[in-house]
Amino acid sequence: MTAVEPRPAGVPAGEPAGEPAPRKRTGVVMRQLTADLVLVEAGGQRFLTEAECPHRKGRMLFGIVNERRLRITCPLHHSTFDLNTGEQVSGPECGSLRVTRLPADGPYPL
Ligand code: FES
Repeated sequence: MTAVEPRPAGVPAGEPAGEPAPRKRTGVVMRQLTADLVLVEAGGQRFLTEAECPHRKGRMLFGIVNERRLRITCPLHHSTFDLNTGEQVSGPECGSLRVTRLPADGPYPL
């Protein structure tokens, strides 16, 4: 019998718990840049977000991005945040997600 390691909060079942590869859905790219930052490319725009949800530290890398509305939904308890402002628009009350809008092209600021 092998020991099962605990999964970090917000990592969906079936996903490796280590350094995840960039995630790409139709028109959306999400990449873990550092332990604290996730790059989101959606709707032809780029954003840096906190890597952890302000509610209970769900991993935003595994969030669902609405490319048309530019919103990201946490995978744990489904809080949704506006990518332009970071303002929480639904879900358990937890305040804003820190986000920074990046130029659409050019180097990352890291
Ligand atoms: S951890 Fe993100 S909504 Fe709870």
